[in-house]
Amino acid sequence: MKLVLASKNVKKMREMNDILSGMGVEVCLQADVGIDVDVEETGSTFEENSRLKAQAVMEASGLPAIADDSGLCVDALNGAPGVYSARYGGEGLDDTGRYRLLLANMPKGEARTAKFVSVITCCFPGGEVLTARGECPGTIAFAPMGEGGFGYDPVFFLPRLKKTFAQLSAEEKNAISHRGLALAAFQAKLEEYLKK
Ligand code: IMP
Repeated sequence: MKLVLASKNVKKMREMNDILSGMGVEVCLQADVGIDVDVEETGSTFEENSRLKAQAVMEASGLPAIADDSGLCVDALNGAPGVYSARYGGEGLDDTGRYRLLLANMPKGEARTAKFVSVITCCFPGGEVLTARGECPGTIAFAPMGEGGFGYDPVFFLPRLKKTFAQLSAEEKNAISHRGLALAAFQAKLEEYLKK
């Protein structure tokens, strides 16, 4: 079975294929099926946004489509940046600018607990929808550490490992990350669905 990914991110596609190819599922890019859909993320939850993206690509391609939506939720900031993680601070900032802004916005003397969240949605042309959520708890470091990963990885600290996401190998990160966990939960749901 082919699933069209509602993203142009080749890394995301590879990551999904690594996990799902073992069950005879191939995740491909929109361009591979001749479509180019850019969905505005107007939802207020990760669930809504991943559903919006998967639904639009399923409708445009006529094929089952998969999307993920993710972000960092900081307790002392009432869950911000949350669904706005990619746009935190406006269009002018890059990844480094965004995590620097986050460090600057952290209230002094308050708990620095946070979590990364990922929600995966798969929409089928028959109307069925599968959803899986993964969360990874951690804290916001006082300063960036590590060179790996992307986004907020250098400031997302895992107290148990005493390292940030940016100090882990891709394999180490995938084993515990919000996206890795969501993908594993999605795999289990897809296996059930394909048995029906
Ligand atoms: P999305 O592509 O709309 O899901 O945007 C997610 C945004 O959340 C990214 O642009 C990053 O800023 C942030 N984010 C999500 N997952 C991670 C991660 O694993 N590490 C660092 N930042 C992440």
